[in-house]
Amino acid sequence: MGDSPMCLDGASVCACESRASRPCHATYMGESPMPLDPPNRGFRVQMPRGLLRGFFTCLLFVSCHYKKKNLTPLADLPIATFSANLIATFSIAMFSAITFNAFAIFITSLISDFSMTHHFNPFFFESPAARQAFTDREELAARLVAFMRQRGRRMLVHGLRRMGKTSLILNAGRISKENLVFVDVSTATNLNEVARNLLLAAPREEESLLLKLFRLAQKHFSSVTLGAGGIQLTGELRPDEGPKNLQSVLTYLNDRAGAEDKPLTICLDEFQDLRLLGGERIDWQIRGIIQHFENVNFIFAGSDYRLVKWMTEPNAAFFNQLQMMEVGPIDTSLLVKWMAGRAKIGGLAAFPFGQDIVEMAGPRTGDIIRLAMSCFELAAAGETPAGQVAAKAFDLVTFSEKTYEFSSRWHDCSLVQRAVLRAIALGFAPTAAETVRKFELGTTSTAHSALKTLLKRQILTRDIEGEIKFDSPFFSHWCATQGARP
Ligand SMILES: Nc1ncnc2c1ncn2[C@@H]1O[C@H](COP(=O)(O)OP(=O)(O)OP(=O)(O)O)[C@@H](O)[C@H]1O
Ligand SMILES: [Mg+2]
Repeated sequence: MGDSPMCLDGASVCACESRASRPCHATYMGESPMPLDPPNRGFRVQMPRGLLRGFFTCLLFVSCHYKKKNLTPLADLPIATFSANLIATFSIAMFSAITFNAFAIFITSLISDFSMTHHFNPFFFESPAARQAFTDREELAARLVAFMRQRGRRMLVHGLRRMGKTSLILNAGRISKENLVFVDVSTATNLNEVARNLLLAAPREEESLLLKLFRLAQKHFSSVTLGAGGIQLTGELRPDEGPKNLQSVLTYLNDRAGAEDKPLTICLDEFQDLRLLGGERIDWQIRGIIQHFENVNFIFAGSDYRLVKWMTEPNAAFFNQLQMMEVGPIDTSLLVKWMAGRAKIGGLAAFPFGQDIVEMAGPRTGDIIRLAMSCFELAAAGETPAGQVAAKAFDLVTFSEKTYEFSSRWHDCSLVQRAVLRAIALGFAPTAAETVRKFELGTTSTAHSALKTLLKRQILTRDIEGEIKFDSPFFSHWCATQGARP
């Protein structure tokens, strides 16, 4: 990923409306063929003129060549030889002119075709930011790097969804060059899977310590193998032994870091999902397991609005035991500059949409990058006036790319919930008497309970000042316009 020219799946990348002409290469692979019009037109116009020029140039060269070799002493030659020479000179000149001219025009056409139509969208919202696509976060990354170089530390990394927590942690791990065992808990369906994933995510053991670590692993697990991929758990893990297996893996990793005498950081991303897998008391169990570990650091990360409360309230398992790191918005001016720089790498010399993008997409990096990607598509297609690009891209994401998702989310909501969403999207305080009356919400308490459900489902979120907002700026736009493109 990153700067290298790569092709994205057209379907998932952009439902770009104006796909008809001069499309961006990234969008068009596998769809309609590349437009051949500009090079073809150039070829037709340039051919006769170039040919004439080429012919006379070649004629000059061929004549000079003959002259140099004294092959055209016109006066000495009999007339037959003279005309044969003349015809040969003209033919060679003509042939060379056609060949060279056609070849030159073909190459020029190719180059101009390439520069006119091949843009590579440099914005990726689908996965955590890779090295080249990662910006800012210098302060937080430096703090994490320092953290990863210590031992026995614990940290909670939190922030709104799509703000960039995972990208930050992974990039800090890369910068630190320390051992990072990163597992996304939300991808597992049980604790055994988390345990297995932890072991799989661990960096390869040092060759010289392999046997020693294998013996160590045997102490913790009933069946392990030493294969090409290092030390791995084998055999079926019993479902009821999930907590025990998780404990074994964590203990092994702590012992291993000690044996290697190297810091090792274990990151459990989407930590709140551990409660789904291990029940309400899982954080207490984890605390019990790791409280005496001295060799490994732990990062717990997540975006669920309840996570910070779970982890830090006075009766929480990790109360007063965690360093806290909040991942907030990236500075707007920095993002604007960075987007313009990225767009240039992708082949667009000017990208004056940054400010509008940030204003429309809101504070979350993921939303900004997503809108930037659509803006890039539109700008590369070259059919939308610059002043309309950001607004059109916003509509495009809302009403084309995400319309099925939003429509099914909308239909999953009760009528009161829908009315509450509409009210908030249009800027009304959801439980105010006027709103309840205007949007026919029934009573204030029905509005309250609808709000509670929507917060729980994370369709709405509470910001730091307690104000209720849409999780997605695109869904807010969709609700405000009743799912119809304005
Ligand atoms: N510092 C950054 N520079 C550039 N792009 C970023 C940065 N941080 C995040 N992004 C982009 O934003 C999107 C969301 O980032 P990421 O997945 O890291 O967020 P998150 O907070 O972990 O989200 P979630 O809460 O959904 O887990 C990604 O596509 C990523 O490429
Ligand atoms: Mg994440």
